Amino acid sequence: MVKICCIGAGYVGGPTMAVIALKCPSIEVAVVDISVPRIAAWNSDQLPIYEPGLDGVVKECRGRNLFFSTDVEKHVSEADIVFVSVNTPTKTQGLGAGKAADLTYWESAARVIADVSKSDKIVVEKSTVPVKTAEAIEKILTHNSKGIKYQILSNPEFLAEGTAIKDLFNPDRVLIGGRETPEGQKAIQALKDVYAHWVPEDRILTTNLWSAELSKLAANAFLAQRISSVNAMSALCEATGANITQVAYSVGTDSRIGPKFLNASVGFGGSCFQKGILNLVYICECNGLPEVAEYWKQVIKINDYQKSRFVNRIVSSMFNTVSSKKIAVLGFAFKKDTGDTRETPAIDVCKGLLGDKARLSIYDPQVTEDQIQRDLTMKKFDWDHPLHLQPMSPTTVKQVSVVWDAYEATKDAHGICILTEWDEFKDLDFQRIYKSMQKPAFVFDGRNVVDADKLREIGFIVYAIGKPLDPWLKDMPAVV
Ligand code: UDX
Ligand code: UDX
Ligand code: ADP
Repeated sequence: MVKICCIGAGYVGGPTMAVIALKCPSIEVAVVDISVPRIAAWNSDQLPIYEPGLDGVVKECRGRNLFFSTDVEKHVSEADIVFVSVNTPTKTQGLGAGKAADLTYWESAARVIADVSKSDKIVVEKSTVPVKTAEAIEKILTHNSKGIKYQILSNPEFLAEGTAIKDLFNPDRVLIGGRETPEGQKAIQALKDVYAHWVPEDRILTTNLWSAELSKLAANAFLAQRISSVNAMSALCEATGANITQVAYSVGTDSRIGPKFLNASVGFGGSCFQKGILNLVYICECNGLPEVAEYWKQVIKINDYQKSRFVNRIVSSMFNTVSSKKIAVLGFAFKKDTGDTRETPAIDVCKGLLGDKARLSIYDPQVTEDQIQRDLTMKKFDWDHPLHLQPMSPTTVKQVSVVWDAYEATKDAHGICILTEWDEFKDLDFQRIYKSMQKPAFVFDGRNVVDADKLREIGFIVYAIGKPLDPWLKDMPAVV
């Protein structure tokens, strides 16, 4: 029986291993982590991450051929294939601070593998890491090998949160990079055999190590660039009276461009896009390619611009001050169907409003008060450390209250900001909400989820990203 161990029971490791266990009953899969509460949660009815369909998959396999454990050493030593899916935060100090990946967790995982292995192993790089990490890991392993042979593979994950199970069941492609030696090719084949249990052969692509690593960064950069492109257009739409939904649709019907991933928004978030691009920029700079670095930096600059533009629009519409005004924030997660708040645009928007002394009442169906307070007090880049190593918030933000209902959040508010596209926000009783709010009542829709015309009929002043402006907003031009 083939044994797989995955180091790191996070958003990537957990769902990916659960699906491997489901699709390959003949393989034993152990997911290990240094975080005791995280493993306890994986072994309970309340999984540590919210992902549609995940509960069912875990219930079916847990205890059968899927195990969650803190005994890292035991499971690593028994495994034939070890996936490494640990955090790769952005460095906050030293060389490459603010851009380069901090490989502390990767290195410590590699050292554990080297310490406990008694048989040959295939080590699979699964976290988002910069190009050439595999080589560094290979060096740690071979220099500590005690005669054991390691083959390093890069098998980047392309799943998106909120659709992780769907993406894992039916991936566009599985990418496996390895050494071009006979041993490397054998290792690639072994991993291919795992995925071939359910993924059609022609969707399993094999490349050299560096191409696989770079493809992951490139794919994320291209996706983020699409959003920054459509968001840049959204600013121009507002200035000219064009409608971003119509423009994006017209552009997307060109089969060379395609219709997906063209929704204008308050900005992209998530653990991958910004971090991946910063990494790419760093690699370009290290390789003497400043023009290429500059090109990709612009994607992040537009994303930051989109968030500050949104805040400016709110403040300027409300007579240039939100001081002491209650603002309801609907949605805090970085996208719908997840409780994940890593790099969510809501953090920057809320901080911007708090900077202007607003009082915020925040509602998100999947994000807890603790998490929101931690996000609003944490330093940039600190979020990407294992939970138990994250600094505790020294204080909470007093101007922020977190509530469990959109009606409670909007009661007596001057304005509403919609920052995540949760489906339930489309079905809110806006007539009731309008009655309970201060007047004039504003809605700032950062995700284009509500029917702006209907809301205007009720009496709201509505701002929607990239849409023709209300006369009110035209008279109150945002400082951009
Ligand atoms: C992304 C990649 O899609 C995935 O392939 C990779 O493995 C990890 O990074 P994820 O971050 O989970 O996945 O979510 P994604 O759906 O890509 O959304 C990222 C951000 O872009 C979200 O904040 C989302 O709201 C935003 N977005 C997405 C838009 O603003 N407009 C769009 O049209 C699409
Ligand atoms: C373009 C648009 O495609 C078309 O829709 C519009 O109406 C006019 O502008 P055109 O300039 O005729 O058409 O040719 P196109 O095939 O788009 O190529 C433009 C340039 O891009 C060429 O120099 C081509 O060699 C180059 N190109 C195209 C690449 O370098 N790589 C590619 O993958 C595609
Ligand atoms: P991702 O989104 O890439 O899955 P997460 O932060 O959700 O990232 O998960 C990474 C997990 O890896 C965390 O649960 C963390 O505790 C775990 N981890 C980090 N370093 C180690 C290590 N050396 N050994 C075991 N687990 C680790």
